[in-house]
Amino acid sequence: MDPVLLNDWHPVALSNRIEAGAMLAADLLETRVVLWRDSGGVLHAWEDRCPHRGTQLSMGTLHDDTLTCPYHGWSFGKEGRCTRIPALPDAPLKAQVAVYHVREQYGLVWVCLGTPAHAGPPAFPEFADDQLRKVWCGPYEVHSSGPRIVENFLDMAHFAFVHEGILGDKQQTVIPDYTVETFDDPEYGSGVWARQCYAFQPQASKAATGGSDIEYTYRVVRPLTAILTKHPPGSIREAIALLLQPLTETTTRVWIVMALNDFTSSDDALRAFQDTIFLQDQPILESQHPARLPLTPGAEVSVACDRMSLAYRGYLKQQNLHYGVLR
Ligand code: FES
Repeated sequence: MDPVLLNDWHPVALSNRIEAGAMLAADLLETRVVLWRDSGGVLHAWEDRCPHRGTQLSMGTLHDDTLTCPYHGWSFGKEGRCTRIPALPDAPLKAQVAVYHVREQYGLVWVCLGTPAHAGPPAFPEFADDQLRKVWCGPYEVHSSGPRIVENFLDMAHFAFVHEGILGDKQQTVIPDYTVETFDDPEYGSGVWARQCYAFQPQASKAATGGSDIEYTYRVVRPLTAILTKHPPGSIREAIALLLQPLTETTTRVWIVMALNDFTSSDDALRAFQDTIFLQDQPILESQHPARLPLTPGAEVSVACDRMSLAYRGYLKQQNLHYGVLR
């Protein structure tokens, strides 16, 4: 397993989907995980695999903060240690379920399967702004690698073709020059960002009432996390975080968390807008070959407006990421 992603934090579920005394199965990096919340409200993330014969523990039961396997009834307490073997009550209790690091942030459950290389999930300071409303979109399951999905999120030249009439206009396809820099910031974390990106958008957001020139800032703060902020004329402020859950090298669940000051549109309308955009991107993403992002120089032809995509590829190389990429 690629250590860069193994030691990073990834979103796996909505926090509010797991109540006290409930469990939920999730997939991450070819690993099955069972999430469960104990009677005190504390969340646990374990490998969803009984150490006896490999059965999914999430198919069993959870009572009194104890998970019981559905196959032979072995029980496991809060620390993942076996507490009971019904067929052999006096046997030594040595079995231990693999226990993972888990956090709740931005309304999502985050899991790190390895040794955390970061103190927590990626920085998304707009989420803490109480002047901005929060809306969760997705998850969307995509047959593509995480890096291809991030790169699509950073790409403006496709707006006029894939999102015509919403984010782009075929009469205005030119992408003006923009600035790409690496950054290291106490609030935003570190990574690479593109600033002063301009695009004409017929309907930049659910609340937009007509076309306007939009200024974008994109920032990549982890290999599978990108955040864009829009600064349209007028009063709507919007930050959109693309947060990826890598299932395998070429299948990914996509979570989108929006922080915005549109207090008029309903949650359903805002989600429907994002659904429309993402479902337009999905067939393009799933058609790309290879599904893994090629980092080899010359493997794909780039032009000046792909500068942010190239900066992202450089960032992945510098991070030494191998999962979901071809070198
Ligand atoms: Fe879980 Fe046997 S497989 S108790």
